[in-house]
Amino acid sequence: MIPRSLLYFTILSGMVTLLNSFGAAASPRRCFCTSDALCRRIVSQPHETEVVVVTEGKSLYKNWMWESIKTVISHNYTDPELMCYAHSQGAKFGFIAKVPGVKSKDDASLADFIKDTKVHLVDTYADVLVLDLLDLVDCTTQADSIGNLTDIVLKVVMEAKPTTSSLTKVMCIVPWKPPCFNNDCGFLINISKDNRGCDFFISNPESYTFECHSTCKARATVPFQKLAIGTDEYLTFIKNQQLLVGIPWHAYDYTCKEMNDNNCMLSKRDNSSDCDYEGSRKKIGLSDWRHTHPNYDGSWDNHQKAMYFNYNNTSDATKHQVWYEGFESLHEKYQFVKQLELKGVVIWTGDDLTYANLNFDMKVSDNVWSWLLHTILATGEVEKHSGFDLAGNMAGVGVGCFLFGTAMGVAIAALLFRKKFMGKRRRPFQKDVDEYHDEDQQL
Ligand SMILES: *[C@@H]1O[C@H](CO)[C@@H](O)[C@H](O)[C@H]1NC(C)=O
Ligand SMILES: *[C@@H]1O[C@H](CO)[C@@H](O)[C@H](O)[C@H]1NC(C)=O
Ligand SMILES: *[C@@H]1O[C@H](CO)[C@@H](O)[C@H](O)[C@H]1NC(C)=O
Ligand SMILES: *[C@@H]1O[C@H](CO)[C@@H](O)[C@H](O)[C@H]1NC(C)=O
Ligand SMILES: *[C@@H]1O[C@H](CO)[C@@H](O)[C@H](O)[C@H]1NC(C)=O
Ligand SMILES: *[C@@H]1O[C@H](CO)[C@@H](O)[C@H](O)[C@H]1NC(C)=O
Repeated sequence: MIPRSLLYFTILSGMVTLLNSFGAAASPRRCFCTSDALCRRIVSQPHETEVVVVTEGKSLYKNWMWESIKTVISHNYTDPELMCYAHSQGAKFGFIAKVPGVKSKDDASLADFIKDTKVHLVDTYADVLVLDLLDLVDCTTQADSIGNLTDIVLKVVMEAKPTTSSLTKVMCIVPWKPPCFNNDCGFLINISKDNRGCDFFISNPESYTFECHSTCKARATVPFQKLAIGTDEYLTFIKNQQLLVGIPWHAYDYTCKEMNDNNCMLSKRDNSSDCDYEGSRKKIGLSDWRHTHPNYDGSWDNHQKAMYFNYNNTSDATKHQVWYEGFESLHEKYQFVKQLELKGVVIWTGDDLTYANLNFDMKVSDNVWSWLLHTILATGEVEKHSGFDLAGNMAGVGVGCFLFGTAMGVAIAALLFRKKFMGKRRRPFQKDVDEYHDEDQQL
């Protein structure tokens, strides 16, 4: 294997120019890592599959299996040790900056945001800038504000990104389906155009509940039908090598207002039609989840391709439905990314399954399965790893069988076919989404 260090790049002169250009201290910065080499930016090969891991700083990241990680992104831009460690492992480092939900590019708070982001970008030696756009666009956004939103994103990217270097890549966090308004998807096209905007887009796995007017019921964090529809719509406007899929690594324990026929209905927020997701559910990381429920025996939902189970809490007389990820549900998502030749996956978050947190007694294969999946994704091979029998561990779940043996499988096969043999540009399948919603009401 080629040592990662060969990929290191020096652009110190560019950084110095940058520092001068916004009037910060004019002297060159000192590298805060143990070696100067660790502050050099890392560039990836253009067609490399990305395995990005998000961290909220809640775990001992040194216990992650770094061999399969290509990039780590943090909410915390004041964590130099994480950057040094990532670089020492040959992984890129990036931080997440939440673009404020302003209405115009002339808003003073936007200028402050850009100034701060620029400083952090230089200070942290970040290889990747991750812009969270979810405060800018939501289901209430009006069509007449799209022009302004485009200007806002382009202004942020153009002013925050070092002009002296094309090495820093910009990844933009977006909702599960493209923000289109009255069938106008110009926003997405314009913010990805000609390298002036986002280099890559990450679909946020938590955004599946952002929709207005959805039925208030417990669901998989990433329902597979929605993943397929949202991805299909994105690929109408951007290249598959520009899209990364956010993958949840946690369970949600929902408290049901009422439960009928396996449908766990949730409360609404005071006098509104908005579902009270916050008040109705508790997030549990995968390792904690397996710790508290070692003998889980949930049911497989074949539409959402995720696991769930119901339980009653007898002490407070509440009914619960838990949706969680298992080997099969993760495998389906990774396989989907691979088959559509998307850029990669974004694990949300690595803290949810830190190796050292797996302090319960389980088979070795169980402990490491989800990490190995990334290796599979990165190498494209399903291998046997030191006594770990992947096929045997899949509890009889034939992936091909799941993917192509169901109605959804047929839809995805059609999607793959269309991607391969037909032109790229077309109108989004509004109809697909409507049909999906209808189906969802009955689920
Ligand atoms: C960021 O990381 C640093 C270093 O680990 C830590 O001291 C600080 O509390 C973190 N900040 C946040 C907001 O988590
Ligand atoms: C768009 O931005 C301009 C200023 O740049 C502002 O006057 C206008 O109100 C904004 N439009 C909307 C719909 O927010
Ligand atoms: C996108 O850009 C095109 C051409 O630059 C422009 O005509 C269109 O109005 C823009 N759309 C949005 C939503 O900004
Ligand atoms: C909800 O509506 C009821 C009756 O219309 C009203 O008395 C109450 O104050 C409202 N609650 C909130 C939080 O708005
Ligand atoms: C929970 O309690 C209800 C009765 O209130 C019962 O019908 C249901 O089967 C119980 N569910 C589970 C998972 O035990
Ligand atoms: C059941 O509810 C009680 C009271 O809200 C809570 O303390 C307990 O942790 C719950 N048990 C489970 C298994 O969630």
